[in-house]
Amino acid sequence: MNTYIFDNKSEDREHRRLQLVEAANDPHTIPLLEETGLRPGWHCLELGAGAGSILQWLGARVGATGLAMGVDKKTTYLQGYDFPPFRIVKGSFLEVSLKHSFDLIHGRYVLIHNQEDLAILKKIFSLLKPGGWAVLEEPDFTSTLLPDYGHDSPQARVNQAICQMFVNVGLDPGYALRLPQKLETVGFHITHAQSLMHLCPGNSPMANVMGESALVLEQEYWHTGLCSPQDIQRYVSLTRDSTHWALYHSTTSVIARKPPI
Ligand SMILES: C[S@@+](CC[C@H](N)C(=O)[O-])C[C@H]1O[C@@H](n2cnc3c(N)ncnc32)[C@H](O)[C@@H]1O
Repeated sequence: MNTYIFDNKSEDREHRRLQLVEAANDPHTIPLLEETGLRPGWHCLELGAGAGSILQWLGARVGATGLAMGVDKKTTYLQGYDFPPFRIVKGSFLEVSLKHSFDLIHGRYVLIHNQEDLAILKKIFSLLKPGGWAVLEEPDFTSTLLPDYGHDSPQARVNQAICQMFVNVGLDPGYALRLPQKLETVGFHITHAQSLMHLCPGNSPMANVMGESALVLEQEYWHTGLCSPQDIQRYVSLTRDSTHWALYHSTTSVIARKPPI
């Protein structure tokens, strides 16, 4: 099992970063969850629940007769969810024993951080009821290299460093591009797949996520040898400049169904 790249960072900063991730992505995630037909009484699992906004939303939707279970290696930011329909399980997904079957499992920006992604997908499949739904959303950082092609700029160098940082720890910066195929390999039927390019101005929710991540992961970026501390400073200042547009990454979201018996 590999180390999570955001481990060992300041608690407050990581909490703020996760809240920025939620602000940037929840408006896109919620319609996808609704597309599954989610209703009161469903049993749902939020894999890598982070700061908990989607877990909270699921709990409100399933109500008192349902279950909204959050699994995360780090549950520091999930401490308020200690009443039904919520249940928090602390630990690595592959290591925790979950004696439940679920109608819906959602995970966002989790698989890209795990070398054992295929084993995770198989466990998701086995935990779903026949006819149950997986909604999985992952980023592709290699999509930033396309508009940068042939350009040498601080932002281009930082984008290359982000990709290399994942490669250096045995992870795939273009993970999203492989996600639909992997889901079919483990037996899912895909009902919807979409990719969203995060082409945004500075000071937008996604630019703020990437600016904050660059500050937290500054050492990791420049240790790749592909960018300098000055490049990172410039990158961060552009994430705050509302007149500067940039492609920050893309997110692929897939709705997949376990075949009914
Ligand atoms: C980038 S954050 C995303 C948080 C949340 N899913 C969101 O999109 O707002 C990834 C989260 O997944 C958790 N995580 C990563 N791998 C995990 C694993 N194998 N088992 C449990 N949690 C994991 C991390 O601790 C972290 O909270």
